[in-house]
Amino acid sequence: MAAAEPLVLVTGASGFIATHIVRQLLEQGFKVRGTVRSLSNESKVAPLQKLYPQAKHPLELVQADLLDPACWSAAVDGCTYVLHTASPFPAENPADENELIKPAVDGTLNVLNACKAMQCVKRVVLTSSVAAISGGFETETDHVFTEADWPDVGGSIGPYMKSKTLAEKAAWDFIEGLSGDRFELAVVNPSYVVGPVLCGGMSTSMELPKRLMLRDMPMLPKMYFPCVDVRDVATAHIKAMTVAEAVGNRHIIHGEGLWLSTNRKDPVQ
Ligand SMILES: NC(=O)c1ccc[n+]([C@@H]2O[C@H](COP(=O)([O-])OP(=O)(O)OC[C@H]3O[C@@H](n4cnc5c(N)ncnc54)[C@H](OP(=O)(O)O)[C@@H]3O)[C@@H](O)[C@H]2O)c1
Repeated sequence: MAAAEPLVLVTGASGFIATHIVRQLLEQGFKVRGTVRSLSNESKVAPLQKLYPQAKHPLELVQADLLDPACWSAAVDGCTYVLHTASPFPAENPADENELIKPAVDGTLNVLNACKAMQCVKRVVLTSSVAAISGGFETETDHVFTEADWPDVGGSIGPYMKSKTLAEKAAWDFIEGLSGDRFELAVVNPSYVVGPVLCGGMSTSMELPKRLMLRDMPMLPKMYFPCVDVRDVATAHIKAMTVAEAVGNRHIIHGEGLWLSTNRKDPVQ
């Protein structure tokens, strides 16, 4: 780690993935500032404050909402790196897709505009998703998806996948449009993230394993999940922040694929 111990902003610090990022950053001696929607929400704030008590620098928490452009300059102020993980990830689709798209896209632009205004940020790492790569494609296909692929947002695509695609596209367009005041962008595109929940609460990722363990499903549908361990996803964010070659690139972060039923064969040989 750099001797200067740069300040890292993690947006949506109370999230399933973000808590692992925050923990790994604190373990590595970085100074970390995290955003939460409300500092008075004890159920989100208290577990974060206990996340890594032996940290060299105590975790700083600030309040910020994706839909409030005014709050982001103060959150970004003094930060060398911004890891933008916050985005709505509900278990069920809302009736209006804009409930996801607006905070995802406007929130990303609010964060990036603050980075541009504050002029202290060297690199932003955006948490996108494989939803912004293979979202909306036919489930049975021989196509091998890579970082070169993008979904057709005009086609048959769910609101979450659309929100992630439009937010990532907005981020790349924003960076492309910067002139002298440039900072770097690297994007992380995880598959279905699983693993230990550090700060309690219920994450959408854990809905399915929870239902399976509670025998809450009347049958096992023929479903295959490309999975990745949340600890690897956190490490990937820190690599995307520190490794020079990460800049300007998307990175699929994937571990292994799993069928709901263990009797099936992995289609990826
Ligand atoms: N989990 C996966 O399988 C997976 C896979 C690929 C990509 N991702 C992406 O990874 C990121 C984190 O996901 P996660 O699984 O960790 O989900 P999560 O636990 O639901 O975390 C989402 C975070 O975003 C925050 N957030 C949502 N709306 C907000 C708003 N309007 N203003 C401020 N903060 C807001 C949430 O705050 P509250 O806690 O206050 O709601 C929470 O901290 C998301 O960008 C998601 O799209 C997840």
